[in-house]
Amino acid sequence: MRMVDLIEKKRDGHELSTEEIRFIVSGYTNGEIADYQMSSFLMAVFFQDMSERERADLTMAMAESGDQIDLSAIEGIKVDKHSTGGVGDTTTLVLGPLVAACGVPVAKMSGRGLGHTGGTIDKLEAIDGFHVELSTENFIRQVNEHKLAVIGQSGNLTPADKKMYSLRDVTATVNSIPLIASSIMSKKIAAGADAIVLDVKTGEGAFMKTEEDAKKLAHAMVGIGNATGRKTMAIISDMSQPLGFAIGNALEVKEAIETLQGKGPEDLTELCLVLGSQMVVVGGKAKTLEEARAMLEGVIKDGSALEAFRQLIEDQGGNPAVVDDLSLLPQAKFVTELPAKQDGYISYMEADEIGTAAMVLGAGRATKDSVIDLSVGLVLHKKVGDFVKKGEALATIYSNTQDLAECQEMLYNSIEYSNEPVEAIQLVSALITD
Ligand code: URA
Ligand code: CA
Repeated sequence: MRMVDLIEKKRDGHELSTEEIRFIVSGYTNGEIADYQMSSFLMAVFFQDMSERERADLTMAMAESGDQIDLSAIEGIKVDKHSTGGVGDTTTLVLGPLVAACGVPVAKMSGRGLGHTGGTIDKLEAIDGFHVELSTENFIRQVNEHKLAVIGQSGNLTPADKKMYSLRDVTATVNSIPLIASSIMSKKIAAGADAIVLDVKTGEGAFMKTEEDAKKLAHAMVGIGNATGRKTMAIISDMSQPLGFAIGNALEVKEAIETLQGKGPEDLTELCLVLGSQMVVVGGKAKTLEEARAMLEGVIKDGSALEAFRQLIEDQGGNPAVVDDLSLLPQAKFVTELPAKQDGYISYMEADEIGTAAMVLGAGRATKDSVIDLSVGLVLHKKVGDFVKKGEALATIYSNTQDLAECQEMLYNSIEYSNEPVEAIQLVSALITD
């Protein structure tokens, strides 16, 4: 087989065989295929797309390019959730305990935050003592015993994706539905998922700016999941404004605990119930989404979801008392309100700008090597559609510095007003099950 012939075949719009796709992915991963040929191939995919079968083959070839986590020693259907990135997205912290309390095993591998988006591992480390370095043996034992464990990314997972993603980044081929879908799904499959629930974000803060593109990506990923034997469902959810009120690590842990107590923000709670229902259904613990939702509401009410979070903290070396005493979380030195400069209905709150304002305080990483401050961040008091009076607090800033000028300016610039009432944003716009 010669790479040049395969580039030509894809360039002319023909379908590649399973063997041909494997040849490309393994050849590129082990260095036999050069960057210039792979670049050309990726551009051909960008313009010619891939069939559902080709997408599934590409996904499996990438998933098999490095280590694969074997979770077969865990009883039950292992369900993973993936969100395409967001600001103040505290869902994983809530969903893990929530679905674990319904009997679905959650063996979660999570990452750290970068730029305006946060990461679950950082958030959990805001709990004193919590560690995410578990041996595979302990990870599996913990999930079998208590249904829930979270580890950091380790090992040589999907090296093909890492190499291809870097190349796409500099060849204008990131924004391709078959390439994004196979990249995301290959990582979930390599991490051992039997079933996958996807939260595809749309809006200014998201990768997919329009609902139409978000739907295409969701269908592509559900198609790959079903073609590779992993039951997959997706939703499209809004990320034009931040999710919930809190943005920042300790602040989001507090928000997650409140949500597990049934006292969380309405949007975060709703998103967790919608995603959680899909997880309980694909995890085989309920037949319908309605039945699953009732189970989730039940475990919030009876306290068992919160108990699952307490158990997770205890299992992973953290101080479980934090669940009853939120003041045990890291506290920022300065608490400053951000007053509105005018009256009006809030018509726009740009999620990525607000995420960046939290990053500037130290809640997020400007580069991979930045050191973050777990105690700082923002708590919003208003969302799109709310009326605000001049002088009323738009947000509270938690900081360890009194020099807030840059953060404040970013926040003011991220918010727009209208004199007319503005409709609240619809959070979940579509459910995609096939
Ligand atoms: N996120 C991924 O993991 N892969 C992509 O290709 C795009 C976004
Ligand atoms: Ca939040």
